[in-house]
Amino acid sequence: MEWGGIINHYRDYLPVTEKTPVITLLEGNTPLIRAKNLSEELDPRIQIYLKYEGLNPTASFKDRGMTVAVSRALEKGTEAVICASTGNTSASAAAYAARAKISCIVLIPKDAIALGKLSQALVHGARVIAVDGNFDDALRLVREITSKYPITLVNSLNPDRIEGQKTAAFEICDVLGVAPHYQAMPVGNAGNITAYWKGYKEYQTGGKIQTLPKILGFQAAKSAPIVNGHLIRNPETIATAIRIGNPARWTEAVRAKKESRGLIEKIEDEEILKAYKLLADREGIFVEPASAISLAGIMKLHEKGYFESHLSNKNSKLIVVCILTGHGLKDPDLAISKSSSPVVLPPDEKKIMKAINQRSFTL
Ligand code: F0G
Repeated sequence: MEWGGIINHYRDYLPVTEKTPVITLLEGNTPLIRAKNLSEELDPRIQIYLKYEGLNPTASFKDRGMTVAVSRALEKGTEAVICASTGNTSASAAAYAARAKISCIVLIPKDAIALGKLSQALVHGARVIAVDGNFDDALRLVREITSKYPITLVNSLNPDRIEGQKTAAFEICDVLGVAPHYQAMPVGNAGNITAYWKGYKEYQTGGKIQTLPKILGFQAAKSAPIVNGHLIRNPETIATAIRIGNPARWTEAVRAKKESRGLIEKIEDEEILKAYKLLADREGIFVEPASAISLAGIMKLHEKGYFESHLSNKNSKLIVVCILTGHGLKDPDLAISKSSSPVVLPPDEKKIMKAINQRSFTL
């Protein structure tokens, strides 16, 4: 069957009717890729799967929530949507609003979003306002604005966003035939962890799966309000997507952790970068740094022996899914700064072969 986007595919689970105008870019149906090389290196008893959400139309998971939020906004007669964003939400909102022929306003923290994301919001014709503050300031402002003006908020505070994003959990179960034992994911504003947990629970209620996964959420060490138990005024991390000090869905994230008997932990930037390079080197998968925290988290937990009790109790293999939320091309500056530069040479075969041999290539 031809893929028609998440609303068409999971209609029965979503807040839409035949009257809802479906604004879709055929998001969803992203690959669940076996990370064979990484599993072998880390622990062959653990089957690592990568849910490559960077392959959505605007290159992040936000499209799942945005198709529902924008379709429903249009149904209600909205003429404009607004969001605060560390980049991906703004890229997605701008694209879906363009398709719906409505206006889009985005508030981004000044100088703090990755270049690819900024280019997306601009090219799709959003009104982009760089706030001289951080994401939390921008979110506070859009909440104020939408309480006073008839503009629809499309941050994950909007329940339609959660509804759309939960479909990624459905897809994982549809492919595996069961729920994974563990699911690892980044936590920023905490909408996505809320969405996945809702999705798994609904699939269990609907009889599609018997068991639920343990949810493992990860925050960057200097942007870890949930782990630390208090707001962070000046969050910092190279993973700019999750540079958030006051998550809007904090309570729901803690609930997902507790109900699933999982955890939310913090990860250093160096560990994120190591996982970022490993995904690219060992599996050929290019993600943005925030997404690499899923693998970094699994590696850290494995090192601490976290999975041992599970592994010794069971004969079957452990299934761990890492959610890779955004594509690596979103943040080309970081990719280039963390890689070795190309060698510049004249167009001369001998010189080129000399350089290739020096770098010990086997031909
Ligand atoms: N990964 C990426 C690539 C993101 O862009 C985000 C959030 C997250 C993870 C965390 O998800 O907020 O639901 O906990 N990005 C938002 C944005 C904040 O504005 O694009 P979350």
